[in-house]
Amino acid sequence: MHNRRPERRLAPSLLSADFADLAGAIRASEAAGAGAFHLDVMDGHFVPNISFGPALVHAVRRRTRLPLDIHLMISDPVRYAPVFREAGGDTLVFHLEATRDPKATVEALRATGAAVGAAIRPDTPYSAIDPWVPSLDQVLVMSVHPGFSGQQFLPEALPKLRAARQQLDAIGSAADLSIDGGVTEETASAAAEAGATFFVCGNSTFVGGRVDANLQRLRASVEAGAARAVR
Ligand code: DX5
Ligand code: ZN
Repeated sequence: MHNRRPERRLAPSLLSADFADLAGAIRASEAAGAGAFHLDVMDGHFVPNISFGPALVHAVRRRTRLPLDIHLMISDPVRYAPVFREAGGDTLVFHLEATRDPKATVEALRATGAAVGAAIRPDTPYSAIDPWVPSLDQVLVMSVHPGFSGQQFLPEALPKLRAARQQLDAIGSAADLSIDGGVTEETASAAAEAGATFFVCGNSTFVGGRVDANLQRLRASVEAGAARAVR
């Protein structure tokens, strides 16, 4: 049931951009065909780093119409969901490891009016997310340990992508299947082949300041992997 699969999109992670020139990073990404922006929110508690909060999401919202994908690497996603929605988040993605009650979390995030995603860390098995997949607009598989950009892709993510793809297709879900962490022109094709549709690209988007050439290479890698998957 492939017909309900969403379009494949590249989502630059602004964590890797120059914070003093986010407007420039947004413009360059849009011109290069980005399909969304991924915003990594870190609280210094769920992950060992602090990034930014709703004020920055709001500033980005004022500069782009592309969807804003808010990756909540925070311990209390339910508490902060409304402010990230009000700041302009289109999709709120929580971590399964951050909640004891995923059902209530999905409901609380959905009540803000946002689309809802759930993420799993590399040390979390696919079986942890499996029961919640039918209620999600996005399944996010992490291919690095959350906290920092510029890390190496962990191939353990690939079997999880394949399991998610199988489940999404089986239930006819058009949810996005996201891969996040270490996605480069070398690794994007394997993720696409495994069924990912939403490619978070931090370092690989902004490295060298050549956003246009970088996204072109990433796009080519994604399409090559997707072509292998249909053969
Ligand atoms: C990691 C974040 C990622 C990261 C991606 O904690 O969730 O979104 O910023 O950056 P790269 O693509 O450089 O791994
Ligand atoms: Zn992220």
